[in-house]
Amino acid sequence: MKIIAAKDYNDMSRKAANIISAQVILKPDSVLGLATGSTPIGAYKQLIEWYEKGDLDFSQVRTVNPDEYKGLTRDNDQSYYYFMRQNLFNHINIDLANTNIPDGMIEDPQEACKAYDEVIKSLGGIDLQLLGLGNNGHIGFNEPDEIFTQGTNCAVLTESTIQANSRFFATIDEVPKLAYTMGIGQIMSAERVLVVASGRAKAPIIKEIVEGPVTPRVPASILKFHKNAILVADEEALSLL
Ligand code: F6R
Repeated sequence: MKIIAAKDYNDMSRKAANIISAQVILKPDSVLGLATGSTPIGAYKQLIEWYEKGDLDFSQVRTVNPDEYKGLTRDNDQSYYYFMRQNLFNHINIDLANTNIPDGMIEDPQEACKAYDEVIKSLGGIDLQLLGLGNNGHIGFNEPDEIFTQGTNCAVLTESTIQANSRFFATIDEVPKLAYTMGIGQIMSAERVLVVASGRAKAPIIKEIVEGPVTPRVPASILKFHKNAILVADEEALSLL
């Protein structure tokens, strides 16, 4: 895994946006795997700025998000569907028909996972998968486990993830306990993986990923076996290495 050191959050965001931007320029009909959470917001802002300047064209880009909370409607302001519109899609010339996010309102996990596996398959491969990093090493919502997941699965969120994500909800009880997520196998099939991380809270898990063994107890550790994985992290996130 290649590590690119950034000075701070803004620098990390610009560096990540540069990599995504290069992907879109080199291949205008790229399939971009996108992420939600706090970390990628700065990169999205930068991409929007470059789009507004006329430097980027998303008209042919297709996107696929790794995850969605189970049970949240699309108009719920905590759904990832809502997040992607607010933070990126509403501000660029992407065709919304070309954007894909798991449907959190499908009640039956088997049906939901099968449907999303088919969506991912129909895209014919992900060119670049952007990912944030959970404090416990999760990628997408693939939580620490005994095995690496292959396809889309219904994840039971750990206490640590529920706690971390409660900052976006009025009370911790409102945080969904289940989420649909792309599997580790599908993430590993992406041509390139770009992980972004910022802040001191991510430093212990980055140390574990970089210096520890590859294990499903630290899902992101598998990225060390990916042929083209990049971690763009700021000084604080890299401070324990
Ligand atoms: C979001 C996702 C999660 C987050 C991770 C980090 O789509 O899949 O894995 O990327 O929880 O979140 P932040 O960036 O808020 O620290």
